Amino acid sequence: MNFKYEYKDKIELGECNIFLYSDAKYLIEYLPSHIIKSIPKDDQCAVYHDFKTTSIFVKLDNEPEKNRRLGSKTWSKIVSSKSKKIHLIGVESIPFWEGLLLSTYKFDVLKTKKEDSTITFVLDERQKKEFHRTAKTCHSVFWTRDLVNLPFNYLDSETYIQAIQKRFQDTEIELNILNKEQLKKQNFGGLLSVNQASVKEPSFVIAEYKSSETKQEKPIVLIGKGVVYDTGGLSIKPTEHSMDFMKCDMAGSASVLGTLDAIEKLKLNVWVIVLCPITDNHISNKAFAPGDVITMRNQMTVEVMDTDAEGRLILADALDYAKSLNPLLVIDMATLTGAAVRAIGDQAAVIMGTASSHNFHLISRVGDEVGERVARFPFWDDYKDQLKSEIADIKNLGGPTAGAITAGKFLEYFVDYPWIHIDIAGPAYTHKSVHYQGVGGTGFGVRLLLEFINRLLAEIKENNQ
Ligand code: BES
Ligand code: MN
Ligand code: ZN
Repeated sequence: MNFKYEYKDKIELGECNIFLYSDAKYLIEYLPSHIIKSIPKDDQCAVYHDFKTTSIFVKLDNEPEKNRRLGSKTWSKIVSSKSKKIHLIGVESIPFWEGLLLSTYKFDVLKTKKEDSTITFVLDERQKKEFHRTAKTCHSVFWTRDLVNLPFNYLDSETYIQAIQKRFQDTEIELNILNKEQLKKQNFGGLLSVNQASVKEPSFVIAEYKSSETKQEKPIVLIGKGVVYDTGGLSIKPTEHSMDFMKCDMAGSASVLGTLDAIEKLKLNVWVIVLCPITDNHISNKAFAPGDVITMRNQMTVEVMDTDAEGRLILADALDYAKSLNPLLVIDMATLTGAAVRAIGDQAAVIMGTASSHNFHLISRVGDEVGERVARFPFWDDYKDQLKSEIADIKNLGGPTAGAITAGKFLEYFVDYPWIHIDIAGPAYTHKSVHYQGVGGTGFGVRLLLEFINRLLAEIKENNQ
């Protein structure tokens, strides 16, 4: 959905108006008393139609997530009113707007007949600034969702790179992309092995945004898994339908790139570097095979017990690369394990790692607030035993239990800095629409990382003073 705006000093009534129910001032000013009296008091989102106009009265809550869901409910009322122009009268809640705007998303790129997809918001000066910030964030989420929703025959490892280049050209983001030759020279053994059967070139994306006003001495590094399609490789995906939506296996990369996109548009005073290993995981007579021993970027040897455990192999090289950046904190985001989904479903992401408990608490709190929840898993060294190999340093597969954690433990071998691992296999992609989260790619992680980074910046600023 495209958004257009009109600004008014004083908003007049239009075809569709949204009122804050609790603000009597506006109600009395705009509406005759018999209408005000007829608004059902216990309805969170009441609608009043007359022959020309629709008025929607919303009752805000103290909890941001409830307001986001209210925004979503309001959007469905707008849709039934068929209005394309919405007058916002006195509503000043960021979560409410966010829920409303996020609900407008539709993936219709591949539909031959597209519906008219522009809506106009009529705003006053007081709402303008914050509304725009919210809309910018939502547009970054939409970009992430588009990337995830595009099927493999529209978005492979090469067209993905083109989409990134196009998005970041003429911005303050510095983009550096390592091609296959460069990956060979720099020994990206994990990424190159996973890519072995592919007819498309792998890449490693390095994208940096450094505000001239940043107070950071070290960068925050965001890493995203970019498997544009996961067949499982020779250990081909065994269960029915499990491959149908594996275009979503680059959701981690799309989320960290979407976060960077928002950071740049909002001009946050931050220094971030995004790293994305990008490839598909395919099958052919050139494919890497179960039983192979491969040498990773950090020179460790890995016995590949399962080519479907490919995410950890490409992420490991990226995590190793991140050491050279002297990071303040590294966060990786990946659709990494079915085990994470089996453990907690698609309601939240699974997190673990070596960062301070303060940062784990902070990200959990932020997750609750923005409605992108995370649940921390244990990370005891005992889980490492499952990765022992007879012939190589480690193997890429743990035992039958705690699969999300053993994947994290595998990654830990490549890390020597504070680190948070976020497994988004559950929430990144949904098969049914809930609230403001539509079907398909959800864009999970963009708003989480953005707000988390905002809070970190606030802390850095405070400590510097
Ligand atoms: N891409 C999958 C994980 C996944 C599962 C993402 C469901 C989205 C939804 C990952 O590469 C994978 O195949 N993981 C295996 C690991 C196993 C072989 C150790 C899994 O979870 O089954
Ligand atoms: Mn896999
Ligand atoms: Zn995968």
